[in-house]
Amino acid sequence: MIKKAVLPVAGLGTRFLPASKSIPKEMVTVVDRPAIDYVVKEAVAAGIEQIILVTHSSKASIENYFDRNFELEAALAAKNKSEMLHEIANMLPAHVSVVSVRQPQPLGLGHAVLCAKEIVGDAPFAVLLPDVLVKNKTAESDLLRMIQRFDVSQAAQIMVEDVPGNLVDQYGIVDVSEPPAEGQSAVMQGIIEKPAVHAAPSNLAVVGRYILPAKIMQLLEQTPKGAGNEIQLTDAIAILQQSEAVEAYRMSGQTFDCGSKIGYLKAVLHYGADHPQLGDAFKALMKDIPL
Ligand code: G1P
Repeated sequence: MIKKAVLPVAGLGTRFLPASKSIPKEMVTVVDRPAIDYVVKEAVAAGIEQIILVTHSSKASIENYFDRNFELEAALAAKNKSEMLHEIANMLPAHVSVVSVRQPQPLGLGHAVLCAKEIVGDAPFAVLLPDVLVKNKTAESDLLRMIQRFDVSQAAQIMVEDVPGNLVDQYGIVDVSEPPAEGQSAVMQGIIEKPAVHAAPSNLAVVGRYILPAKIMQLLEQTPKGAGNEIQLTDAIAILQQSEAVEAYRMSGQTFDCGSKIGYLKAVLHYGADHPQLGDAFKALMKDIPL
C-alpha cells in the first residue's frame, strides 16, 4: 500500500504573480479554501497517511494551515461557532501527519522529490504536484486507481491525459505503443520532458500524479540536469523505465492547472458550481453576469 505522498511546494509561482508575491500560490483560494487543501484531501481520500511537503522559507503558511490554531479555536468556541470550529480543529483525520523538508535551492522537480529521500525511506510513494487540481468523474479517484494498479503490477504509475498537439512542449510526454483507455494503464516505451512540438512521441502528457518506487531516489541522485537546466523527475523515470516496467495511467477525471491564471479561473467556476452550500447561488450569480 502507498502511505506517503510527496508534495513539492517550494516553487515561487512566477506564473501566478502578483497574487503569489506575498502568499504561496498553493494558498490562493479556490472558492472557500486554498488550492493545497483539495490536493491534500485527494491524497488522504486515496489512503495516504503522511504528507511530505518539500518547501521553502516563504511557504510557512501552508504548514500553518494544516496545523492546529488554538487561539482561533478558542475564539470560535467562545462565539459558539461549533460547525466551523469542528472543521478548523479537524483539518485532517487524526491518523494523517504533515511533515516538511526544505528544498534549499531551486534545482528542479526531480531535485525537490529527492529532498524527501530520508522521510520516504524504502517504501513506494506518491507524488502530487499541487498546481494540478483533479476533479473525479467516478467515486474512485484517479489517484486511488493508480495506487490499486501499482499494488497489482508493482510498476510505477504516471498519470497522463490528452493535450492539444501545440501544447506538448509544456509537459512531460509519454511514448506508448497502445494508448490505454481512460482509467487504465499501459506499459510505456519512453518518456521525455517538454519535447519540441514536432518531436513529441504522442499527445499524452504527464499531469502531476505519480506512484514511484523508492529506487527512483537513487536514480535521481545520478540524473544530470535536463530541460530548463533543472534536475527533471521525468528524466529519472526514463532511466527507471530502462530496467523495469513503468506504466502510463490515463486519467478519467478533469484537471485544472492552478499554476496558470486561466486554469485557476476555470477551477473556481467548476468548484464553485459544485460547492455543496454555495453551488446553487453561485450558478444563479453566473447567469446574471452579462457576458
Ligand atoms: C512538471 C513536470 C512535467 C509535467 C508538468 C505538469 O512541469 O516536469 O513533466 O508534465 O509538471 O504536471 P512544470 O509544469 O513544473 O514545468
